[in-house]
Amino acid sequence: MSLFEHIKKHWLQPFFFLGKNPLSLIGGAAASAAAFVLIGFWAVNILGHAGSKNPYVGLVLFLFLPAIFLLGLIVIPIGIAIQRRKLVDTGSLPSIYPDIDFNEPLFRHALNFVVVATFINFVIIGIASYRGVSYMDSPSFCGTACHVPMRPQWVAYQQSPHSHVDCVECHVGSGFENYINAKMAGTRQLVGVTFDTYPRPIRAPLSELRPARATCEECHNPTRFLGDRLLVKTEFSDDEKNDMTKTILVLHLGGVDSLSHLSGIHGHHLNHIEYVATDNTFQKIIAVYAPGPNGAETEYVDSTWKGPVKGVRRVMDCMDCHTMAAHSFQTPRDALNEAMTSGIPSVALPFVHKEGLVLLKAKYSSQAEAGVKIKDGLETYYRTQYPAVWSSQSAQVEQAAQALIKIYDRNVFPDMHVTWGTYPDNIGHTNYPGCFRCHDGNHTSKGGQMITNDCSACHNLLDVDDPNPKILSELGFE
Ligand code: HEC
Ligand code: HEC
Ligand code: HEC
Ligand code: HEC
Ligand code: HEC
Repeated sequence: MSLFEHIKKHWLQPFFFLGKNPLSLIGGAAASAAAFVLIGFWAVNILGHAGSKNPYVGLVLFLFLPAIFLLGLIVIPIGIAIQRRKLVDTGSLPSIYPDIDFNEPLFRHALNFVVVATFINFVIIGIASYRGVSYMDSPSFCGTACHVPMRPQWVAYQQSPHSHVDCVECHVGSGFENYINAKMAGTRQLVGVTFDTYPRPIRAPLSELRPARATCEECHNPTRFLGDRLLVKTEFSDDEKNDMTKTILVLHLGGVDSLSHLSGIHGHHLNHIEYVATDNTFQKIIAVYAPGPNGAETEYVDSTWKGPVKGVRRVMDCMDCHTMAAHSFQTPRDALNEAMTSGIPSVALPFVHKEGLVLLKAKYSSQAEAGVKIKDGLETYYRTQYPAVWSSQSAQVEQAAQALIKIYDRNVFPDMHVTWGTYPDNIGHTNYPGCFRCHDGNHTSKGGQMITNDCSACHNLLDVDDPNPKILSELGFE
């Protein structure tokens, strides 16, 4: 007996004979339908642009469809076993299984059933998968389905200038490898959410984001930032009257001119700059590499760093400065200054800036607790310290409390261990190291060059902490 004959007689004939039972037929149809949908998805994703960049599509690709496929396959032998047991029990199991005959009506019947059932399953599984994928592509899914872990980023995202840019535009790299990696990561994250094993706070290291060329530069042309930008910072003091002052600076944003000269803040970093950081938030930068004259590379090393120059090496791009592009977390001081500039909390409330900051910075176990304690705290303060204010301006106190709570809820998420400063803003140098991670006057080359620390390289300070800046009225503001 040839091998084929052997397989046919001992495997295929019994398989087809016993397989003619409803359970096995449905299992077979489900498995084949899932396989078709999977092949379709892969074809679309590999060949076309129509594929989804969403990491959670992995849920469909790696969990849902394969699960149906496997389930279908498992059900087939179970059906066969049950059928066999039935035939043995009734003594009707044939000693020789009939030949596979496509002309036999019963066999054709079963085959038709499988074809029709496959088609119906294909439509059902296909639509379910497609709808699942489109849903998962929406920012609201990324931001809310993983409700707890990503809520801080979701809230901050909605306040950012990029609240209309899909999460996946920045967070999922291009190319097939990134595609598969992202799908695996997405599936892993969902498992993390299900079993509550995700890290708190969550981080998305810059190295895991798509390169700026494929994101920011799709919309912002880096060769078109030219010139200066006026920046006015309004601050309120911690004294009784909450005195307002302004700091005015002209930022030398620069860029690239028509003769390809690089200038200012944007221009000088468009050259290929690389750096080495020792932490995964890229806050401690120990070495910087910039193109020098004649194509040589200048190495600037942090002179305060005593260890070896070892760590994560990265090419600097937009996101090294614009960490807050899509998730603008604030500092309590900036947030309160901004709120008071727009009128609430009112400067008419004595010491509201000072008290507000104390209440915002206090530690609470949850946003709910903060809501209660901030309100209580502010009310108690005025009731006990300023009874006259409390009796005449209790409505303003109430408004101030609500404004403080809003600031807190937008920036602090105790359940995710996200508090003030968890996510550093790299623009500037007053709240976080920011520019001074490199421009601190300590990063020097062997030849004695230093990454500049000259205030006027980056900005001209026109006026600092001035209650009545003349320059603004001269320029025609207000
Ligand atoms: C315009 C680009 C952009 C978009 C759109 C965007 N992000 Fe981000 N995301 C960033 C950048 C930049 C970081 C900061 C990375 C860092 O600080 O190392 C970040 C960080 C994160 C982090 C980790 C926190 C951190 O700082 O490490 C999470 C989680 C996150 N984003 C989720 C989302 C979600 C959810 C959406 C959509 C609702 C979204 N992002 C949309 C650019 C973007
Ligand atoms: C899909 C297009 C798109 C992408 C991608 C995009 N931006 Fe923007 N960006 C915009 C638009 C539109 C605005 C203006 C929004 C507004 O003024 O409300 C803007 C505004 C900005 C601003 C000015 C915000 C302000 O407060 O004045 C900065 C800075 C910025 N983007 C940086 C970035 C960076 C960095 C990235 C990459 C991480 C990026 N953008 C990706 C479209 C985009
Ligand atoms: C060295 C740090 C740094 C890098 C790198 C950088 N920026 Fe900026 N960018 C700044 C600073 C500083 C400002 C002005 C600060 C502010 O708006 O508060 C700014 C402002 C902007 C603005 C607002 C401009 C305006 O006229 O209001 C846009 C848009 C922007 N950057 C996009 C980008 C893009 C896109 C890239 C990458 C090609 C990039 N930036 C790279 C530091 C940087
Ligand atoms: C990763 C290190 C790094 C960070 C962070 C960084 N820079 Fe720089 N910056 C450099 C290097 C290196 C040079 C010199 C580039 C060159 O020689 O072409 C430079 C040059 C400059 C220059 C030109 C100075 C001159 O000689 O005229 C300006 C302006 C500047 N940076 C502004 C900023 C600002 C503003 C920030 C923060 C928003 C910032 N930089 C953040 C590394 C950095
Ligand atoms: C490498 C570039 C760079 C250098 C050098 C630099 N600054 Fe700045 N500085 C910035 C940027 C960028 C901002 C704007 C931050 C923002 O957009 O909020 C800023 C903001 C400020 C502000 C406004 C602060 C605020 O309330 O946010 C002051 C004051 C200031 N700088 C003082 C100085 C002084 C003084 C020096 C010199 C010792 C100096 N800076 C050197 C980049 C620089």
